[in-house]
Amino acid sequence: MKLSQKVRLLASTAGIALSLSAGAASAESLTLYCSVGEEWCQAMVNGFTRATGVEVAMTRKSSGETYAQLKAEAGNPKGDVWWGGTGDPHLQAAEEGLTEEYNSPMLEKLQPWALSQANSSGHRTVGIYAGALGFVYNSEVMEDKNLPAPSCWADLIKPEYKGEVQIANPNSSGTAYTALASLVQLLGEDAAFDYQKQLHANVNQYTKSGSAPAKAAARGETGIGIVFMHDGVQQKVGGFPVEVVAPCEGTGYEIGSMSIIKGGPNPEAARKWYDWALTAEAQEIGASVNSFQVPSNASAKIPPEAPSLDKVKLIDYDFKKYGSSDTRKALLSRWDQEIGSLN
Ligand code: G6P
Repeated sequence: MKLSQKVRLLASTAGIALSLSAGAASAESLTLYCSVGEEWCQAMVNGFTRATGVEVAMTRKSSGETYAQLKAEAGNPKGDVWWGGTGDPHLQAAEEGLTEEYNSPMLEKLQPWALSQANSSGHRTVGIYAGALGFVYNSEVMEDKNLPAPSCWADLIKPEYKGEVQIANPNSSGTAYTALASLVQLLGEDAAFDYQKQLHANVNQYTKSGSAPAKAAARGETGIGIVFMHDGVQQKVGGFPVEVVAPCEGTGYEIGSMSIIKGGPNPEAARKWYDWALTAEAQEIGASVNSFQVPSNASAKIPPEAPSLDKVKLIDYDFKKYGSSDTRKALLSRWDQEIGSLN
């Protein structure tokens, strides 16, 4: 073989090697920690892979659990993006330097409440949806047991509802932490803990996941579940005999959030997910799997089933304070001592 032929052969071999490695690199991947319902997590993963070709390994866990996982893995982060779940633990993770600053070009498309989440965290988290806290009750259980329909927080501690109320544990669940922080803001801290002690007498179970009490109420396993209103609507749309209540005294709400995990293995794919997840198209996936939160992209359609935040008496929830590391830690440890320890 002449020298020039040898060079050509070498070059083409190298070319093959190069294109092979380019092919391998383009099989990009992402590890996603997801804190909404399993079905919505899965639909988002499928939508993203369809749109970008990036393969996603997804784990679903509640908001408080995912926060704890980020903290435990801080020395060797395994996840790239934390998508969904209530905003408070995302804010706490931001303050503790567990999440990465990112100024997405999509920020200008968002509702003011979603942006304020980004601004108050130095762009270490951002709002992706909003929803009000309330409760759901099973109308057949109420009728069978001859119980009146509850309409206020004050009703839930009445002795007639003994054993009929279900709520999650605020350590694992962002929903239950939202309830705890909302009660503190509505009543004052000491009165909120008194209230929760009385509520405890009516609670049949503290679940791990925030939406579990809505599913239990739908199946008649509990009369009442304290949940986000949209989680109650999901059960009603699913055909279960439930009614959704906006508490008469007023209530708190969540800014469901998304954060890029600091030091995660695939930062480029993480930013791709982040930008995509803020598009109207990605945010409209929720309604297709009966998740009726209000989307943060101002052009995304608000599902008609979404409880209208304008019609609910919302408190001016102080996200900065209740998402701060000090306050969240202090409230959870008081909850463990005063409520979690009760039989
Ligand atoms: C449900 C709700 C979400 C909420 C999430 C929090 O999935 O639909 O709006 O962000 O619960 O979950 P957690 O289990 O942490 O309470």
